[in-house]
Amino acid sequence: MSELTVYLESDAHRPELRTADPVLMVGHLVHNGVLYERWAADAPLPASTDGDGVLRAYAGPIARLKEARGFRAVDVVRVTPQTRDVAALRAKFLAEHIHDEDEARFFVEGAAAFYIHLDGRVFRIVCEAGDLLSIPAGTPHWFDMGARPRFTAIRFFSRPDGWTASPTGDTIAARFPSFEPDAVDAA
Ligand SMILES: [Fe+2]
Repeated sequence: MSELTVYLESDAHRPELRTADPVLMVGHLVHNGVLYERWAADAPLPASTDGDGVLRAYAGPIARLKEARGFRAVDVVRVTPQTRDVAALRAKFLAEHIHDEDEARFFVEGAAAFYIHLDGRVFRIVCEAGDLLSIPAGTPHWFDMGARPRFTAIRFFSRPDGWTASPTGDTIAARFPSFEPDAVDAA
């Protein structure tokens, strides 16, 4: 279940807010400059669909977002527990960092969590199939795919050389709950 949890940056244990209501999620995130949308596929999407099939199924919303936000390229990434060097891949995104372009991801299947550090708060967004999240350039954040990751996502890029990250050096990510999909499902 897609979910937003809002914490004060000083307290990773008692959230100020936890909601799975899409309207509340959009409202809280947009108020803080973060784009969150729910997208429906233009066409049926069989489980065996490859990257090109995924891009065809969401061609309409992809084109709209590229036009609205100036993205120039997209690709499709799929991660499973069998992905090569998956532990190192998870670790790569676990420390707080920024980008000089917006980080936009659309989740086609599976789930993962973004943590956005903004104005003294941490916004934890568990994204699942149908969720589009775009984090503004320069906004500190981190990403946890979980110990046994399973997701497919469309990535949007505005720079020709693609994804580059700058660590902030803040260790805040280590204080916040990691992404454990089974625990989320049971809550
Ligand atoms: Fe990032």
